[in-house]
Amino acid sequence: MNIMNCYRNLILTALFLWSSPGVDSSIGLETTASMRASLSDEDFKIDIGNGLRVNTSDYRVRIADFTKFPALAGHDVQTTVMRVSLMAGKRFLRHFHPRSSETLNALRGSFNVSFQFEGLDTPRIVSNTIHAGQSTVFPHGLVHDTTCVAQTDCVFLSVLNSADPGFVRV
Ligand SMILES: *[C@@H]1O[C@H](CO)[C@@H](O)[C@H](O)[C@H]1NC(C)=O
Ligand SMILES: *[C@@H]1O[C@H](CO)[C@@H](O)[C@H](O)[C@H]1NC(C)=O
Repeated sequence: MNIMNCYRNLILTALFLWSSPGVDSSIGLETTASMRASLSDEDFKIDIGNGLRVNTSDYRVRIADFTKFPALAGHDVQTTVMRVSLMAGKRFLRHFHPRSSETLNALRGSFNVSFQFEGLDTPRIVSNTIHAGQSTVFPHGLVHDTTCVAQTDCVFLSVLNSADPGFVRV
């Protein structure tokens, strides 16, 4: 960057800060801390039972995201939590998250879990069976499948590392 561009950027930054009264003009960690400071202790309690609901005959989903739990949107948090009850033998929607990886924790029952590598060649499928107490990870943006392989209903809790992970059915 040449010196004129440097000056121009400094002036534009100063104008922006000066023209936005009420906006914390600090940058970096202080902004993160001031956002966190505006939250109450209770805001950090994530009761997923109060999350958004989606019910079908095969599964019931609860989603705790920043729209109901603002602490999840913190610059230093960036998380979404999903709890899914899956009926015995049922497969959850095949999907991917364009902006997040997913850590799936089996709470009840057993699951066949898999995800598909990207690539032009014959795609590799990574498959595992996990039981209550075990976890798996689905990498950012890769299509994944989860099937309840127990005789009774299964439950998993997933943690996504974005406040805006996106959900794309395939
Ligand atoms: C979803 O299913 C649960 C458990 O059967 C039930 O308690 C809840 O009321 C249902 N919610 C909706 C929105 O249908
Ligand atoms: C689950 O995975 C195991 C091991 O790969 C396989 O034998 C079984 O058929 C799978 N079950 C279902 C319902 O996909």
